[in-house]
Amino acid sequence: MDSRFQLSRRALFWGAVAAVTGSGIRSGIAADISATPRHIGIIGAGQVGGTLGRLWAHAGYQVMFSSRHPDQLQLILAEAGPNAQAGNVAQAIAFADVIVLAVPYKAEPEIAAQYGSALSGKTLIDADNAYAFRDGALANEAHAAGVARYSAHLFPHTHFVRAFNSVNASRLTDGGGGNTEIVYSATDSAAGAIAVELIKATDSVPVRGHDL
Ligand SMILES: NC(=O)c1ccc[n+]([C@@H]2O[C@H](COP(=O)([O-])OP(=O)(O)OC[C@H]3O[C@@H](n4cnc5c(N)ncnc54)[C@H](OP(=O)(O)O)[C@@H]3O)[C@@H](O)[C@H]2O)c1
Repeated sequence: MDSRFQLSRRALFWGAVAAVTGSGIRSGIAADISATPRHIGIIGAGQVGGTLGRLWAHAGYQVMFSSRHPDQLQLILAEAGPNAQAGNVAQAIAFADVIVLAVPYKAEPEIAAQYGSALSGKTLIDADNAYAFRDGALANEAHAAGVARYSAHLFPHTHFVRAFNSVNASRLTDGGGGNTEIVYSATDSAAGAIAVELIKATDSVPVRGHDL
């Protein structure tokens, strides 16, 4: 398929999503957004980060997508609309109080080493899964410790949440449809409350997992 046609079809689709959800018109979304919308930084604007960021931007949150190549985020910006901007990883962390990590698991130690202090005090929502075929020995280590606990220890100075890892991104493309359950686990209740708010903002149902 012609790539320009594909791009414009995607933009049309997300434009339609924006029209439906626009400014948080759906009740589940509108109810939870305060007068000052949260700033959300997305590390890894792929399937998961891109989908969540678009939904939250359409719901009225301020979103900064980040990439190691931020100049390649034009399409996603067009789809996300006026509440979204793009930057590098450091800029997204500085921009937001809530950061979403949506990268291959093997990138987590590197991101922790490089950005650990910038992330200090922020709420970090980790959507990553660990697979040995992709992430190597680290995945086995993480599974032995419990993936959520392993990641929480990599980012010890954050309010850490694991969420969105159990659902295929395609189920959330146009929102969870009101009945998609999203399990979340958090290190503290304030972070858990933010997870609940942001899960509801994807039109999904938060389900509390084990505490971290
Ligand atoms: N796809 C799903 O349905 C799904 C569902 C649940 C959980 N997950 C998990 O969620 C995570 C993301 O999955 P995905 O499907 O969204 O992957 P993806 O589409 O491949 O996107 C991953 C993003 O990570 C970024 N990235 C890679 N290495 C990085 C690094 N060292 N530092 C910073 N950014 C880096 C890449 O961005 P740049 O190259 O632009 O920097 C890329 O856009 C994975 O751990 C996956 O297992 C996926």
